[in-house]
Amino acid sequence: MKNLYAFFLSLFTLLLFYSCTGDQNQVVEKSDYYTEQYRPQLHFSPEANWMNDPNGLVYHEGEYHLFYQYYPDSTVWGPMHWGHAVSTDLVRWEHLPIALYPDSLGYIFSGSAVVDIDNTAGFAKDGETAMVAMFTHHDIKGEQAGELDFQTQSIAYSVDKGRTWTKYEGNPVISNPGIKDFRDPKVVWDNERSQWVMVLAAYDKAMFYTSPNLKEWTYASAFGIEGDQRLWECPDLFPMQVKGTDEIKWVLLVSIQKQGPNGGTATSYFIGDFDGENFIADHRKQEWLDHGKDNYAFVTWSNIPATDGRTMGIGWMSNWQYAQKVPSEKWRSAMTLPRELQLRKDGNLYRLTNVPVKELRRLEKSAIEVFNLPEIALNTYELPKGKGLYRFKLRCDEPMSTMRIRLRNSLGEWLEFGYFANDEYYFIDRRNAGKDDFQADFRGYHTGYALYPKDDILMDVILDHSSIEIFADDGQCAMSDIFFLKEPFDRVELVAACADLEFEVIDLDGIW
Ligand code: FRU
Repeated sequence: MKNLYAFFLSLFTLLLFYSCTGDQNQVVEKSDYYTEQYRPQLHFSPEANWMNDPNGLVYHEGEYHLFYQYYPDSTVWGPMHWGHAVSTDLVRWEHLPIALYPDSLGYIFSGSAVVDIDNTAGFAKDGETAMVAMFTHHDIKGEQAGELDFQTQSIAYSVDKGRTWTKYEGNPVISNPGIKDFRDPKVVWDNERSQWVMVLAAYDKAMFYTSPNLKEWTYASAFGIEGDQRLWECPDLFPMQVKGTDEIKWVLLVSIQKQGPNGGTATSYFIGDFDGENFIADHRKQEWLDHGKDNYAFVTWSNIPATDGRTMGIGWMSNWQYAQKVPSEKWRSAMTLPRELQLRKDGNLYRLTNVPVKELRRLEKSAIEVFNLPEIALNTYELPKGKGLYRFKLRCDEPMSTMRIRLRNSLGEWLEFGYFANDEYYFIDRRNAGKDDFQADFRGYHTGYALYPKDDILMDVILDHSSIEIFADDGQCAMSDIFFLKEPFDRVELVAACADLEFEVIDLDGIW
């Protein structure tokens, strides 16, 4: 009897144990995935460890590929790999295994990818199509030995939709000409001249190369600003049609390591023409793609189908000033939202605008709150209690004074953004938006000028748990800033004086 009792007791305990641990595991998996403090819910971030620049952006057979600078062993920068993710809609991402590992030629630094439709490199066999990636091999031993030629350019290919990669046995395909900073090749197909064109960063300038087959490259020319001694990185070169016309201009994006519009690193652009060998800028003046503090190494997707026709890209949503010190524990950094670029002409000036891709509208929930407001508004609204992810849309006709939108939580943390009517600039103030003592350059108030000041202002704002992106005046002034709150915002205050004012709060779903 005693034994029987003991038997049933242990059976019961065992069943209880399995049912609990089984349940727990399920709960752990579901509730813990991507729910850590600070974890972006609208933006791509790696599951764990260090990420910087987006790399190898290419569309192929229904998938947008996002490779990225990745160090899988730590939350700070280290021996670089290419991490990999894909999306079918630019909204939700699927993590894939690491695509490229360091090898005897070095770490795998930034670069790009193309689809070799005509098999110019000969990597594809019958019925196959090859994706070709071009990247910088960074030989750490050479760097440590004080040599100059430790960065070279190499290629790798995949014939299985980017799932596995083979490095070309003839690497490197471009050796180093004696320039210490010689990296980040971005390849584009030049349709007019039927050639591959590659731009890379060579210290304080961009250098252009051409090739018939992605393996043999010929130096063509260089472009820089006289007297500029800042380090250039992650360039991109592509043609664009000027909105509303048949005119084609070429855009050169360049990321700059110092003296961004609000300090530190930032992405800039030049507009001009490309004759197959030389880039001729209309003005040597650099413009900023984004006036916030956190959009670096922004580059575009290649091989977007002509039926789509958009130019789209993504940037790294951080700044080298503090990227390795931000307080997320398990992973470091996120990408910006994928954005559509447009080229507009106003008078003699060309401007590049950027707005979130239209696919993000899929995250807008049906519960939309619209506030039609009187001329002068000073109101506080409770934010809809969803996932803490919002899109704000504002239209203010004839702004009469400063417009301020302040987000608050019950701990007294706040983030403010808005428009200064007198000086015609937009701003983000993150000086009270949570943790900011990890690095002196982080705390700040950032401004971006309205390009074409006009009578009415429009703001499209996307708020994630740890970032805000403002797209003012249809993307003429974009600003991206990150922050680290203790608790999500629950209220929004609006102070504005306009001839007519509309304010809309849209509750968003997360992407994970
Ligand atoms: C830009 C950059 C690139 C380089 C990579 C290394 O953020 O410095 O120039 O290829 O990061 O991770």
